[in-house]
Amino acid sequence: MLITKIYRPDEIKEAAKELRLGELIAFPTETVYGLGADATNEQAVKRVYLAKGRPSDNPLIVTVSSKEMVEKYTGALSKEAQKLMATFWPGSLTIVLPIKPGALSKAVTGGLETAAFRMPKNKTTLALIKEANVPLVGPSANSSGKPSPTTAQHVFHDLEGRIRGIVDDGPTTVGVESTIIDLSTKHPTILRPGLVTAEELETVLQTEVISDKHKVGQKETPKAPGMKYKHYAPSAQVVIVSPLEWEKALAFANANKQAVAVMALEKDLANVSTEIPTFSLGENITSASQRLFAGLRHFDDQLRPEIILCAGFAEEGLGAAYMNRLKKAAGETFFSDLKI
Ligand code: TXA
Ligand code: MG
Repeated sequence: MLITKIYRPDEIKEAAKELRLGELIAFPTETVYGLGADATNEQAVKRVYLAKGRPSDNPLIVTVSSKEMVEKYTGALSKEAQKLMATFWPGSLTIVLPIKPGALSKAVTGGLETAAFRMPKNKTTLALIKEANVPLVGPSANSSGKPSPTTAQHVFHDLEGRIRGIVDDGPTTVGVESTIIDLSTKHPTILRPGLVTAEELETVLQTEVISDKHKVGQKETPKAPGMKYKHYAPSAQVVIVSPLEWEKALAFANANKQAVAVMALEKDLANVSTEIPTFSLGENITSASQRLFAGLRHFDDQLRPEIILCAGFAEEGLGAAYMNRLKKAAGETFFSDLKI
């Protein structure tokens, strides 16, 4: 078994050296921690799938430190791609682009003729990529199926002994993974909602961006391959409580103290019995998104309730990204669905 080393931000030279040798190093981003390997080293990339237990048909994001690093694989960038990079990079937007045939290995692209590129907003990681001088594949650094990691400790919990190291830069700030936009299709399409919203993308692109919201009643277009897998699921059944159901849900929790845990905004926790385990989502949707994955992990590690009642939010702005992840964790179960 490997000893997994924790690197401080001032130790990235050492971490970059390991990456160049084909080792796996987890790195911080503003969204969630990523599991890094040299994207140009097929053997190293294959070991990322093994370490995560990830299905091999699920392509990986290519994490870069500059626009030029992308152009190496795509050739000249479209106006749209350039506009998005100029506005949102470094930041929480992943852009799917056509690549030159064979420019990246099948292990990275899953055999697609496109690749997903992202420049994260984290100085340590941008410096790490520059130092390694190669793009890094960067799936979330969790075991496949578990909530994405928002601290180095989460990564250690899931991947200790399977990876060479983790660069620890503290808890992530956004907390949910990047927005993915596909520019390889006729109409720009959002494959996964995140901090960067459809409205913001439309403003910059000056054209309609297809997202779930616009597709109501239509046949679904294929999404990011990874979106079809079960995700973010803790051992307990997660149940989403919309704001109007909150009082009823509290009564249910008080009647089932032994089996239930509650994740909610600080103000809503005030009325929960002290006998019930709780996890605070803070003050608003921003803090709730930051803490969602940590909350789902919290109860797995300690109290193991049967049911986690978790606050739902309106599906607007960051709320769309939060609800996308929470619905997956809950298997779409809402409190109103419970037969009680
Ligand atoms: O915020 C994030 O994006 C984090 C941090 C670490 O950068 N990364 C992340 O990676 O969430 P991952 O692998 O957990 O999710 C990437 C998603 C998967 O659903 C995958 O199927 C999709 O991106 N994807 C990758 N390449 C693609 C492509 N060429 N076309 C469509 N979807 C793609
Ligand atoms: Mg993931």
